[in-house]
Amino acid sequence: MTLLVTGGCGFIGSHFVRHALQRADCRIVNLDKRTYAARGDNLAGVEGTPRYRFVEGDISDRVLVDGLLDEERPWGVVNFAAESHVDRSILDPAPFVVANVAGVQVLLEGAKTHKVARFVQISTDEVYGDASGLPAFVEDSRLAPSSPYAATKAAADMLCLAYAKTHGLSVVIVRSSNNYGPYQFPEKLIPLAIHSISTGRPVPIYGDGLQLRDWLYVDDNVGAILTVVERGRPGTVYNVATGQERTNLDVIMSIGRLLAGTGDGSAARVQHVADRPGHDRRYAVNSRRIHDELGWSPQVSFDAGLERTVRWYLANTAWLQRVTSEEYDAYYDAVYTRSWKRPP
Ligand code: NAD
Ligand code: TYD
Repeated sequence: MTLLVTGGCGFIGSHFVRHALQRADCRIVNLDKRTYAARGDNLAGVEGTPRYRFVEGDISDRVLVDGLLDEERPWGVVNFAAESHVDRSILDPAPFVVANVAGVQVLLEGAKTHKVARFVQISTDEVYGDASGLPAFVEDSRLAPSSPYAATKAAADMLCLAYAKTHGLSVVIVRSSNNYGPYQFPEKLIPLAIHSISTGRPVPIYGDGLQLRDWLYVDDNVGAILTVVERGRPGTVYNVATGQERTNLDVIMSIGRLLAGTGDGSAARVQHVADRPGHDRRYAVNSRRIHDELGWSPQVSFDAGLERTVRWYLANTAWLQRVTSEEYDAYYDAVYTRSWKRPP
């Protein structure tokens, strides 16, 4: 079974590729543009695998996507490719529209033309918007994205469902909560906090730090996605989350305790910085559907997942140096020092 995986060099995609290749009947073609988020050779060691092929390119390139689908005739497409960071979408939303909306349309059209049997769109709980004061969102809840990032992901979900309804494409959508784990670019909260604390810098915290997130260990999300690839019901959306919510301050303090425990002596220092515009206070989704229909439930507790993650970052400082060596300082300056100014 050949799968065309897009965005397989990024954080979640690279974990998915490694897991999927463990199945002897699975061949992966990975189409990835290798943006700033994929500079870390996240798939080192996989490159030589005979059942793996890497193609560098953009999912919004119709000629490239058509040619690849024609050549490979994959059974399914699993689309991870996206601009994925809320803060960057505030600084410059244009690449988000290209990758997250136009790119998805190109993939859908290609999948339709080449009669792909399964199209899995990797979406996010952020499409529902702020859950403050509300019951956890179910898959039929109204979409009310707050950030440009979430708006482009919601637009992609709508396109996917339209292709399912209009053209009968076998689309399935996975909307997960915040992921964490090895290989996550240090712009998202957990790796940013590990990087900051372990290099003796304060962790920048937006607002009061009491915003709530439901942190899902990346292997648990990959397990859910593999299940959906195999057995998801066509035309269906599946929420994926743990149901455990934590404030950002709690998360940072847990990281500080783990790092202090390794003997480097640093404790979490936080620095309150200008808040993210449009910042959602709470994300919460109900994942009963994937549990009841497909038997999925999370396996990794937050404490165990965080410990694994912190240990990985401490053991992989060369990876961290590589991914923060190019435009990272300009980005950091634009968000945290100059407060929401586009980097030069
Ligand atoms: P990431 O930023 O680490 O990786 C994204 C990957 O997509 C990179 O390898 C990048 O090079 C590639 N890419 C970007 N634009 C592309 C384009 N136009 N053509 C081809 N490749 C392109 O992101 P991630 O955290 O691994 O997220 C993967 C997916 O999961 C995204 O669709 C994101 O919206 C979704 N998601 C992420 C989270 C999270 O917590 N990280 C939570 C829910 C959903
Ligand atoms: P993030 O990891 O960017 O994920 P998302 O915005 O998709 O939930 O942020 C998680 C939470 O941490 C969110 O409430 C914003 C907050 N945060 C900070 O307080 N400071 C930071 O520097 C970052 C990156 C995030």
